[in-house]
Amino acid sequence: MCDARRPGYDYPLGDLIDFHCHILPGIDDGAKDINVSWAMIDASVRQGIQAVCFTPHFYADRDDPEKFFQRRDKAFIDLKRSVPTVFPVMACGAEIHYFEGIAAMEQLMRMRITGTDLLLIEMPFRRWTDRCVADIVEINSRKGVQVFLAHIERYLRHSTPEMLSHMRSQGVLIQSNADFVIDRSTRSRALRMLYDGEIDILASDSHNLRSRPQNLRDAYDVIDEELGEDFSEALRVRGRLLVRNILPAG
Ligand SMILES: [Fe+2]
Repeated sequence: MCDARRPGYDYPLGDLIDFHCHILPGIDDGAKDINVSWAMIDASVRQGIQAVCFTPHFYADRDDPEKFFQRRDKAFIDLKRSVPTVFPVMACGAEIHYFEGIAAMEQLMRMRITGTDLLLIEMPFRRWTDRCVADIVEINSRKGVQVFLAHIERYLRHSTPEMLSHMRSQGVLIQSNADFVIDRSTRSRALRMLYDGEIDILASDSHNLRSRPQNLRDAYDVIDEELGEDFSEALRVRGRLLVRNILPAG
């Protein structure tokens, strides 16, 4: 059992936000139980993460939104009840796999990360269509919605620069996984995209303790080193602004 279960666990104060991870226990291909969840949260806090957004997968073709919310919220309550502390800040959202009809989904607003406007969408793993791009732009234009696209590095061959540039010009935000920055084979491309403003948000997309662990700090260490601490700080500040309503005041 990780130390996080101990009353009075003394967390260091961090300033990173993890916008996308699969830490909620037993509801998708992420943490398999509460012990793993808390070990992942413990690792997150030790890396300086102040707020964690839980974003379990939602697939409209195999799940019902109301049942998804019930499962997600029960897992969240079970997780919170399992420890005496309420730190770090924790909020629930979803990683919604794009489907035709997403724009008409009644429960779309409830899929946002609680207390924020942020809506995480996982795009199709095939060539994007104009319809799909138009849907995302339309959803993003709604009041109180800020779409961010999951792990853009997986879609560079499914999209075109024009599609991405159009979506960004309409205010859609782009997320990449920490791995994209850490991995030496993709690092230079990731850093170039960050520098050029083509990536707005970094997240761990962590699923477990071994093959897909929490690694956000490692990515920021690379950014500190390669792009400078001012750049890194600006990225963190922009991230914090997106979740300012769920962070403690001050
Ligand atoms: Fe994910």
